[in-house]
Amino acid sequence: MAETITIIDDRTGKKVTVPVTNSVFASSALRELDPDLRMYDPAFLSTAACKSAITYLDGEQGILRYRGYPIEELAEKSTFTEVAYLLLNGELPNTQQLAQWNYDITHHTMIHENMRKRFVDGFHYDAHPMGMFISAVAALGTFYDDARDIFNSETLDKQILRLIAKVPTIAAMTYRFSSGLPFVLPNNSLSYAHNFLNMMYRIGDDYEVNPTLARAMDVLFILHADHEQNCGTTTMRVVASANSDPYSATAAAAAALFGPLHGGANEAVIHMLAEIGSVDKVPAFIERVKNGEEKLMGFGHRVYKNFDPRAVIIKKTAYEVFEVTGMNPLLDIALKLEETALKDEYFISRKLYPNVDFYSGLIYQALGFPEEMFTVLFAIPRTVGWLAHMIELLDDKEQKISRPRQWYTGQDVRSYTELQKR
Ligand code: ACO
Repeated sequence: MAETITIIDDRTGKKVTVPVTNSVFASSALRELDPDLRMYDPAFLSTAACKSAITYLDGEQGILRYRGYPIEELAEKSTFTEVAYLLLNGELPNTQQLAQWNYDITHHTMIHENMRKRFVDGFHYDAHPMGMFISAVAALGTFYDDARDIFNSETLDKQILRLIAKVPTIAAMTYRFSSGLPFVLPNNSLSYAHNFLNMMYRIGDDYEVNPTLARAMDVLFILHADHEQNCGTTTMRVVASANSDPYSATAAAAAALFGPLHGGANEAVIHMLAEIGSVDKVPAFIERVKNGEEKLMGFGHRVYKNFDPRAVIIKKTAYEVFEVTGMNPLLDIALKLEETALKDEYFISRKLYPNVDFYSGLIYQALGFPEEMFTVLFAIPRTVGWLAHMIELLDDKEQKISRPRQWYTGQDVRSYTELQKR
């Protein structure tokens, strides 16, 4: 029998019965009771703002699936570009489709010389790479006169391809600019992650990307490609709902990701570990967290209340990377923090576990990335997720421009007092 929920308005005695599917009911039912009725839901804790078939997440069970495929299987067997195809198209590509997709991405990695020479060169020497990334993605759209033609699917696909292909180039460019190093052009013979590391680190002719490190980068890209309706993706959907172009909407989503409570957390984890300084200082730090003086960065998640499956894969990847690069000295502090917190009632009762950012910063550091680049590394693969949500939103006939309502708590009407009388 279909499940239903019945809501009674005690003010009028009116009642409405609506179907509940997967614990969701359509809030439009409330309008039947009273068209002016509003649900107060700060930070959307109980609101499903869209239907989505892209990513499935069960926070209690620690499950994450892209288009039905478990993240563990994809991280083990797939590649980032294949996962990108899957997220955007709904199905894994066949051999020929994948070859074409990889070819297309590889052949769109270049960016206009003016982006590099005039736009990026205009930044202050110590500009944060993520600030440069956000601005450069928005600026990229100004190079294409078809960027705003979003209802032509062929044109939209072209923008999506351009964005996915060019974000690693932009990311590497922000790093090379910050370091005062000459830019390295994309190399069409390399894979996505390999090419990115090459653009980051090549100096002269003798640089070879270690395949274990390139694979680790690819796995990190897979793990970060989508995560359903998080802050950045919601930003993407809200901006795209106004029919903004994909470059502007991606820049807006990236701006949300820049926040320390979102994609900026891995940078904050490294600061925290460095500040703690040694394993013996961990217990005192945990006490400060429990007293509300500090936050344990890289712990806790709005949705995962058991474990973050990405954190499990990342921890394993960290050890593979450290075998090549040598141990990261901050790892011992991280392990001690994790061990102490997981046994402590404060963290147990609040269901706080390591999230994706707890170990990712340690890998990034071992791969040679400065902390300021960490969020940029997150933004590269998440661009795919954002764009998959943009396509889904534009195809969804139930969607309109996002426009939540408010609960007004300000002054009642009052008369203007002349300045001299105040
Ligand atoms: N350290 C210490 N206490 C914490 C932490 C933490 N990292 N996270 C949550 N808590 C506590 C809160 O103080 C609160 O305690 P209270 O009930 O005594 O008031 C309780 O746990 C519930 O926390 P909320 O803030 O209500 O949880 P919310 O779902 O709003 O926040 C968030 C989730 C933002 C991720 C939070 O856990 C946090 O700030 N973590 C640290 C930052 C971080 O690692 N962010 C990365 C998230 S993953 C990502 O974006 C890719």
